[in-house]
Amino acid sequence: MKRAIVFGATGGIGQAICNDLADAGWSLYLHCNSNFDAANIASQELMKKYPNQDFIPVKLNFATSDEELTNFVNNLLPVNAAVFAQGITKYGFLNDQKLSDIEKVMQVNLTVPVKLTKLLEPMLIKQNFSRIVYLGSVYGGQGSALEAVYSSTKAGLTRFTQAYAREVASTNLTVNVIAPGAVNTEMNAMFSKETLQEVRDEIPAGRLAEGNDISFWVKTLLDKRSGYCTGQTIYITGGWLV
Ligand SMILES: NC(=O)c1ccc[n+]([C@@H]2O[C@H](COP(=O)([O-])OP(=O)(O)OC[C@H]3O[C@@H](n4cnc5c(N)ncnc54)[C@H](OP(=O)(O)O)[C@@H]3O)[C@@H](O)[C@H]2O)c1
Repeated sequence: MKRAIVFGATGGIGQAICNDLADAGWSLYLHCNSNFDAANIASQELMKKYPNQDFIPVKLNFATSDEELTNFVNNLLPVNAAVFAQGITKYGFLNDQKLSDIEKVMQVNLTVPVKLTKLLEPMLIKQNFSRIVYLGSVYGGQGSALEAVYSSTKAGLTRFTQAYAREVASTNLTVNVIAPGAVNTEMNAMFSKETLQEVRDEIPAGRLAEGNDISFWVKTLLDKRSGYCTGQTIYITGGWLV
């Protein structure tokens, strides 16, 4: 049985990733931060649709101690893949940000994914094939004003991935980033209709991505035949900004 943990399974992109991976035969841990009911309901629905696979909801706030991260990983069944689809942003000028908000964006988007990667590595490299995918962003390649901290975390994931993929390339573990442009999820719900229309007008494809425009590429990287693709950041933006 191949099993993946999807961090941020309750997010717009995470939900699409879980649906695609379940359809491709994966058993899943569906991770959430605050929304346990949603992770639980999604797990039950997937269980009905794919009764020969396991779907287990799990909760972890990434703004936590190293001890809790270690306990979390130690309690997992073996996984072949980890997908990091959690993420937060704090929109505004750097000068207006609280120091605690800067720390939290760094922790949730970059520091804890790196720590969890270190903790998961022994389990991953024991499998006959294994995969890590981080959700980056087009803003990791082109810094975005008013999202300077967020942009730095996504750029950090890209460079971490390139370096770390080289460390583990001789095992069966591949490490990649899928970097979306603008996606129609809760993360963009703070923007007005007018602002979203302005973004849409800038995107050569003429629309925001839907979750399943992104999940297809995650599923493809998790496929056993993707074993020679590692260390990459793949931009999925409808031609926007790249
Ligand atoms: N939407 C976009 O336009 C876009 C563009 C480029 C890149 N991305 C990236 O794609 C990924 C998914 O984005 P999305 O649009 O699906 O976001 P979303 O719908 O806002 O979902 C965010 C996810 O992150 C989890 N999360 C929030 N705070 C957390 C914390 N403290 N600890 C652990 N998990 C936490 C949430 O869990 P709960 O629901 O349980 O709280 C949820 O599952 C993110 O990395 C994002 O940066 C998104």
